[in-house]
Amino acid sequence: MKQEPTEHEPTAGVTAPVIIVGAGHSGVAVAAGLRARGWEGGILLLEAEKETPYERPPLSKELLKEGAPDESAVLRKEKFYEDKRIDRFRGITAESIDRKGATVLLSDGSRHAYHRLVIATGSRARPLTVPGAELAGVQSLRTRDDALELKRLLVRGARVAIIGAGYIGLEVAAAAAAKGCEVTVLEFQDRVMSRVTSEPVSRHFERLHEQHGVRFIFGAAVTAIEGDERAECVVTADGTAVRADVVLAGIGVLPNQELAAEAGLECRDGILVDGDGRTSDPAIYATGDVTRFTSPIDGASQRLECIQNAQAQADRVAAHITGQHAAVPEIPWFWTVQHGVRLQTAGVRHPEDDVIVRGVPADGRFSVVYLRAGRLAAVDTIAGLTDFRPARKLIAQGARIDPTLAADPGIPLTDAIPTDANPTDPNPADADPVTARI
Ligand code: NAI
Repeated sequence: MKQEPTEHEPTAGVTAPVIIVGAGHSGVAVAAGLRARGWEGGILLLEAEKETPYERPPLSKELLKEGAPDESAVLRKEKFYEDKRIDRFRGITAESIDRKGATVLLSDGSRHAYHRLVIATGSRARPLTVPGAELAGVQSLRTRDDALELKRLLVRGARVAIIGAGYIGLEVAAAAAAKGCEVTVLEFQDRVMSRVTSEPVSRHFERLHEQHGVRFIFGAAVTAIEGDERAECVVTADGTAVRADVVLAGIGVLPNQELAAEAGLECRDGILVDGDGRTSDPAIYATGDVTRFTSPIDGASQRLECIQNAQAQADRVAAHITGQHAAVPEIPWFWTVQHGVRLQTAGVRHPEDDVIVRGVPADGRFSVVYLRAGRLAAVDTIAGLTDFRPARKLIAQGARIDPTLAADPGIPLTDAIPTDANPTDPNPADADPVTARI
């Protein structure tokens, strides 16, 4: 039950703190960035979880491994928060914002004034809503507790059904197969990682998983999880039944935008922010997975679910609050490791981009180049990073690329420029005063 709100007036003459809601990669980076940029005022970091803010990438990879320690790396040591005078409330969430009074009401009933408010509430796993989703043995993976529970269930011989062949589903499939589980992945689309990559890369990773014993069912519309108390079987619309002791739903995320939406801030599948992380209220910023913004690279409206963006956007917020210049936007990048093979992506691919395979997938190491109106938009590198750095540079430049030259892995990407390319050819990146950097 909620307590009666108590008022905490800021001490006379002392500016209220910057309050940061959420202690994931982006929230912690804002706190660190404010101090690094000389912010002397108070900083209050609200953490929904009780433990020291931690890294999330290991949760679906290293932490699940046999014999791996249960602790995943923390984002910053406890001493950092003490030294930098970053106050933290653990296990506390923000319930509502009074924008007129510039205060925030917390889940313990206290109310706090803010100088600036930063919403870094991230995203949550999209819930599986079919009958039986509440049975024991059905879970998602977002927090360390989720990962530890999953680790406990992934034992040799366990039948594991994974719903969704995205990053989470595939990384967990690899970890489960390595532990001797019998793994079936049920994916709604007709290939893996369709949100983030093209068909040649999907097919390559499907073969890789199959070589490690993972079975795929594509076009699968899950209609129910069956079982008495515990999950026993996943059923799809065409009547297929997959026996399972463990069911993991990795079916995407939803932005935690409710706090902002209820306060009347503009949201559209994410809190709308400008290039400095400002929401529609000048005293309120938002950063990380929860935001939607216009790409300075290509003008697309996007919500990026990646650590690089969480950190880069946090720095822009810290810069703006302290009245300083921010670093120019970076080209976003992403990575995943499955069965020891690394897929690393520079830029954001669009489904309608031209796809050029660089190298022979059967060799195990290749790249895929994505061109938009003849210019480099994104590159996937598989099991090798040779093209990664040049790609980020060329994407930032809005470089035109010759598809025939780009298809030859013997030619460096930087030399795959069309011979008739006019150096004065307008570059979309230059159209924006903030030119992207690698
Ligand atoms: P995702 O969006 O990457 O993949 C979800 C997959 O589930 C898609 O392939 C989609 O077609 C499928 N799907 C959706 N509904 C379905 C249904 N009802 N039945 C069957 N398939 C369905 O999301 P994912 O894997 O859940 O990851 C969640 C978040 O975690 C994302 O923000 C992701 O970026 C992040 N993450 C990133 C990692 C990385 O960058 N290496 C690793 C792990 C997580």
